Amino acid sequence: MSSPSSVRAHWSSRWAFILVTAGSAIGLGNIWKFPYMTGTNGGSAFVLVYLACIVGIGVPLLMAETMLGRRGQGNPVDAMRSVATEAGANQLWQVVGAIGILGASLILSFYSVVAGWILDYTVLAVHGFDGMSKDSLSAIFSALLADPWRLIGWHSLFMLLNLLVVIGGVTGGIERANKILMPALFAIVLLLLGYGIVAADMAAAVRFMFHFEPQAISATVILSAMGHAFFTLSLGMGAIMTYGSYLERGTSIARTCLYITLADTGIALLAGLSIFAIVFAQGLEPAAGPGLILQTLPLAFSQMPMGNIVGVLFFVLVAFAAWTSAISLIEPATSFLVERTGLGRKPAVAAVCFVAWFIGIAVALSFNLWSEIKLFGLNIFDLLDTLTTKMLMPLAGLLIALFAGWVMKRAHVADEIGLQGGAFRLWYGAVRYVSPVAIALIFLNVIGVIG
Ligand code: TRP
Repeated sequence: MSSPSSVRAHWSSRWAFILVTAGSAIGLGNIWKFPYMTGTNGGSAFVLVYLACIVGIGVPLLMAETMLGRRGQGNPVDAMRSVATEAGANQLWQVVGAIGILGASLILSFYSVVAGWILDYTVLAVHGFDGMSKDSLSAIFSALLADPWRLIGWHSLFMLLNLLVVIGGVTGGIERANKILMPALFAIVLLLLGYGIVAADMAAAVRFMFHFEPQAISATVILSAMGHAFFTLSLGMGAIMTYGSYLERGTSIARTCLYITLADTGIALLAGLSIFAIVFAQGLEPAAGPGLILQTLPLAFSQMPMGNIVGVLFFVLVAFAAWTSAISLIEPATSFLVERTGLGRKPAVAAVCFVAWFIGIAVALSFNLWSEIKLFGLNIFDLLDTLTTKMLMPLAGLLIALFAGWVMKRAHVADEIGLQGGAFRLWYGAVRYVSPVAIALIFLNVIGVIG
C-alpha cells in the first residue's frame, strides 16, 4: 500500500505554494472588504487592531494551519483525524475540518455574488465612466443591487468559471492561473496608489488610516478587525489546510507564510490608501459600506488619463483575484468528497459549486426581493458574513491554536515548522497563549460576559 503522501498531488515548487496561497489570501477581502470595513469602523482604530491581529494571531495560525495540513496529508477532516491519531487525541478534533468545509462553502456563496458585482462593473467600465458624478455612481450601484436577475446572472457566470478551473486540478488549473494574475494585480494597485498621490488627497487617507487613536477602539471594532484578519488570510476554513497538504516536506513553513502575509497585508493597505485618497478628494462618505470601491474608483477612472483602459484592467484583475480565492473555497469540500466518498473530481466540484450557487441565490435576493427577511436584525448576506467571519473562523482558529499548541507533540510541531531557538519559542508562545487567550477574550467580550 502506498502512503497517502505519494498518491496526493503536490505543488511543483515552493514558489507555487506561495503563489497559490497568496492567490487564495488576496482577493475581494483586500480590495473590496478591507477598505469598506475600515471606513465603517472608523478608520485608524480598525487598521491598528487589524494589524495587531495579523501579527499576533494571523501569521502564527497561518503557519499552524499549513502545518496541520502537511502533517495530516488529507482533506481537512481526514487531516485532522490523522494528526489527532498521531497525537493520541480524541477523534472529535475532526470537527475542525468539518467546520472548515461548511464555512468555506458558505463563504463561497456570498463571495460569488460580490464577485458578480465586479464582473458587472467590468462591463460598465468597458463603456466608460466618463462624466459620471458621485450621485450617478451611487444610483448605478443601487440599480445593480435592486436587480435580482442581473445579480443572479453574474453570480452564476462566476460560479461557472470557478467550476472550470477547479476541475482542471491542483497543478494544472489553480497554479497556472495564479502565476500571471497576482503580479499584474499588484502592478495596477500601485498605479492607483500613484493616482492617489498625484491627483487625490493621500495625506487625508494616511491620516484616516494611521492616525493613532486608541480611544476609538471598541468591542465591535476589535471583533470586526479580528474577523477580517482571519478572512483576509483565508484562515480556519480548511483552505490553507488543504493547500498545505499539497506542500512538499522540507519547505520552510515559516518563511512561506511570512511572504504570503506580507503580500496580502501590503495589497490591502495600498488598496485602502488609494481608495480613501479618492474618497476624501471627492468629498465622498468613507462609511458608505459594501459599495465603497464601486462608488469611488469609477470617479478616478473617469478623470485619469487612459482611465477607460485602467478601469477595465482593474476590474478584470480584481475578478481574477476573486477567482483565485474562490477556487480555494471550493477545494476543501471537493477534496473531502473525492477522498471520502470516492466521487470523481468533476462531480465533486460540481456538487460543491451547485450548493454554493443555490445559497448564493438567496444572498442575491437579500439585496432586493428578500431584503426584509431578517434574523437578529441581519439580512441573509450580513448573516452569512457574520456567521462565517465573526464566528466560525475565530472558533476554528481557536481550535487550531489549541490543537497545535497543546495537543500535538512538541517534537512533531518543531519538526514541521522548521524554526529554531528563539524564533520557534516565539511562534509556539503565540500559538499556545496569545492566540487562544486573545480569541477567547474577544469572544467573551462580545457576548458581554466581560468588559
Ligand atoms: N482571503 C480571501 C479574500 O480575502 C477570501 C478567502 C478565500 C477565504 N479562501 C478563504 C476566506 C478561506 C476564508 C477562508 O478575499
